[in-house]
Amino acid sequence: MRKSSELFFVSSNVHKYDEAKRILDSFGIRLSFLKSTLREIQSDSIHEIATLKAKDAFAKFQRPILVEDDGLFIDSVGGFPGPYSSFVFKTIGNEGILNLLKESRDARFVSVITYCDNTVLQCFDGMIHGNISMSQKGRGWGYDPIFIPVNSEKTFAELDCKDEISHRYHALENFSSWYLSNQ
Ligand code: IMP
Repeated sequence: MRKSSELFFVSSNVHKYDEAKRILDSFGIRLSFLKSTLREIQSDSIHEIATLKAKDAFAKFQRPILVEDDGLFIDSVGGFPGPYSSFVFKTIGNEGILNLLKESRDARFVSVITYCDNTVLQCFDGMIHGNISMSQKGRGWGYDPIFIPVNSEKTFAELDCKDEISHRYHALENFSSWYLSNQ
């Protein structure tokens, strides 16, 4: 691992970067953005998708990078959309998800943050439990208007504290402890 080198978040999604930057700032780690659409395989495993994305990003930029892969897993529909969350959001969207669900609405949001440099490739997981709202609420991006985190009555889109509790926060907290102890 390189010492004190600049760290880049590679993604086509500026919302993910903005959140990751604020979260890593709170751990004293500086993050820069490389906006890029990476190759994304279809797989049942978020770790496999994240690992291949990280290899692709490092091959492209030859710098220490972070990539992220996420999934929304809804219990009553067998963990759907899970690793297919991005495709499902683009096709049926939040209204499509709401139309699928009946009473049981338990869900979890999972983040896998992957670090890659010239010697190391490592994944860090984060998760938050919650449930799917009855209708869209708030103005957030992606699934934020339909995901209500545990111990809340508001969706991610309506909450001010998303950065302190999200799946992304937990994955980046795990990454930060490892990264800072290896600097
Ligand atoms: P990806 O494949 O990692 O880009 O993410 C899977 C899907 O989940 C995409 O449609 C994202 O927009 C969505 N997503 C990931 N993280 C969040 C979040 O924090 N809030 C809302 N939607 C998210």
